[in-house]
Amino acid sequence: MREWFKNIGGRRIGKIACACVLTFALLFSLCSACVAKKQPDQISYVIGISQANMREPWRLVLTQEIREEAAKHSDVRLVITDATDNSEKQIADIQKLLDFGVDLMIVSPCDVKKVTPVVSDVYQSIPVIVLDRVVEGYDYSLFIGPDNELIGKQAGKSVSQMLNGKGTVLELCGSSASQASIDRSEGFSSIIDETGDIQVEQVHVVSESRDSAEDIVRAYGTHLRDIDAIFAHNDYMALGASRALEQLGYEDIRIVGVDGFTGENRGIDLVRRGIIDETITCPTGGREAVQYALEILQEVSGVPKQVILRSHSVTKENADAYEAGLNRSYEEPDKIIDVGYAQVGTESAWRLANTQSIKTAAKEFGINLIYEDCNQSQERQIEALRRFIEMDVDVIVLSPVVDSGWDEILEEAQEADIPVLLSDRKVSTKKDDMYMTFIGADFLEEGRRAMRWVAETMEDPEECVRIMEIEGTVGASPSEERSQGFKEVMQEYPNCDIVYSSCGDFTYEGGKQVVEEYINSHDWDIDVIFSQNDDMALGAAEALENNGITPGVDVKLISVDGARSAFEALIDGRLNCVVECSPLLGPQLMKAIKDLMAGKELPLRIITDEKVYTQENAQKYIRSRKY
Ligand code: AHR
Repeated sequence: MREWFKNIGGRRIGKIACACVLTFALLFSLCSACVAKKQPDQISYVIGISQANMREPWRLVLTQEIREEAAKHSDVRLVITDATDNSEKQIADIQKLLDFGVDLMIVSPCDVKKVTPVVSDVYQSIPVIVLDRVVEGYDYSLFIGPDNELIGKQAGKSVSQMLNGKGTVLELCGSSASQASIDRSEGFSSIIDETGDIQVEQVHVVSESRDSAEDIVRAYGTHLRDIDAIFAHNDYMALGASRALEQLGYEDIRIVGVDGFTGENRGIDLVRRGIIDETITCPTGGREAVQYALEILQEVSGVPKQVILRSHSVTKENADAYEAGLNRSYEEPDKIIDVGYAQVGTESAWRLANTQSIKTAAKEFGINLIYEDCNQSQERQIEALRRFIEMDVDVIVLSPVVDSGWDEILEEAQEADIPVLLSDRKVSTKKDDMYMTFIGADFLEEGRRAMRWVAETMEDPEECVRIMEIEGTVGASPSEERSQGFKEVMQEYPNCDIVYSSCGDFTYEGGKQVVEEYINSHDWDIDVIFSQNDDMALGAAEALENNGITPGVDVKLISVDGARSAFEALIDGRLNCVVECSPLLGPQLMKAIKDLMAGKELPLRIITDEKVYTQENAQKYIRSRKY
């Protein structure tokens, strides 16, 4: 934190005066700012909060959670500003917080587009946590928020069950400019469309308030005869809708809301009293924001880039259990935790570093790791999981070699009451409660970044660019998503085309073979090679050199991972760009296991922090590489 503030209780009288003047100035200039407690001699950190508004109930809960969590730390002070939903005011607030000298800023943006460049500027000087609505790009320390599309899907499933797949739903959306509302609608429709026999009538409630929702539903009058259920994008609108239905005497229309807060007339209370049928919880992330803020300020390693919070469906049946879970106290287990870990194999430098990180972290956290190298075989992974179930381990961690084919074994783990965590790669299962959390990278974004680099370094945007893609293991989430992300950005560049794509299985030999096979059957006509990992890229580079083609010069070579060997190749000019994918998942994974065993709820996804490296900056970073 700024020294004048940190040492304010010491001999720095001038700085005390300065701090006082600034404190008063700030209190006067920010109409809704507040500095939580006084006793400046105990202050270690000052956290600035730029809130989009203090009007919406969801944001009031968010602010309250931030205050409650910060109050647990006597050396933390908050300075909170209210942008009153005005982006210009929010930009001014952020600047004032920065001038004030806060150590870290938490921003919940009103308008993502307008606030993005300001957040990006702040991030150059202090850490920034973005809450709820993600800004564009990655110029922030951490994003914490819900998965609104998933919330919409959860609501869709509930409504479709309530109606037995047939009927008409009135959807009370938020403002058409609200990304959260757009995402919820998309998720909702994706499920409803599958039923084929449910119609949806959408209405936008611009203010998203209870009273407007009540007026709108009341105005429906006799038309409500045709409505079987209402999906309201928040519980306040759900309450408004319920009031209108009561006044008009429609008792059978089912209502699903979103937010699920506790307290009078909030979602859980409404469900319990039968005023609405169900609420899908939408956590604010306020507590997590303060916890991570402290980790960032204390320079704890392995803080993720994105934390996506979990939502629950709450009905009358599980409302008590849900609320009890919120108030549960956490206790460290007094036994050593046994963790069965089914690793993919040893196919790449990335994998070796990943295994090392997990083994080291397990030791540091005092966890008993039962490690199985499954040699790139799903069958072996399933066998390993069965052994772990027989051993009755406390937790299973799976790094699945491919996405599909896991339903049966994950159900066996669920029946045995053994939680499963996913590390590095994802699974696609029929049910979405088959694992506790996913900890790993954003593979889609890695693919996008690779193609963005191609676009940025294109000499002539008119000239045709012929691309070879060397894919990783078929059916593995990094292969599919990297490819998808790359193609998504490539669509914007009609002059670029993937003319050849083949699998190298994430190995050095695999990459080499793909290039050799191409050279043996074609005249060399490739401008760019996008290799989905370093090992395949380095194998490809060797094959090119063996055939008189200079990698990095005659053909641009891009890879993913960022192992030391790739950095050396960047420095030697054999590679042009490396999109980072961090294998150092051990500390986050062990922390999640400990949290889970202590009874805490884990986020839905924990996404790692990653960068892009080129020949220009490789030398600067190679010394600090940890793998
Ligand atoms: O799942 C992560 C991928 O698997 C890495 O990018 C690759 O090198 C590894 O084998």
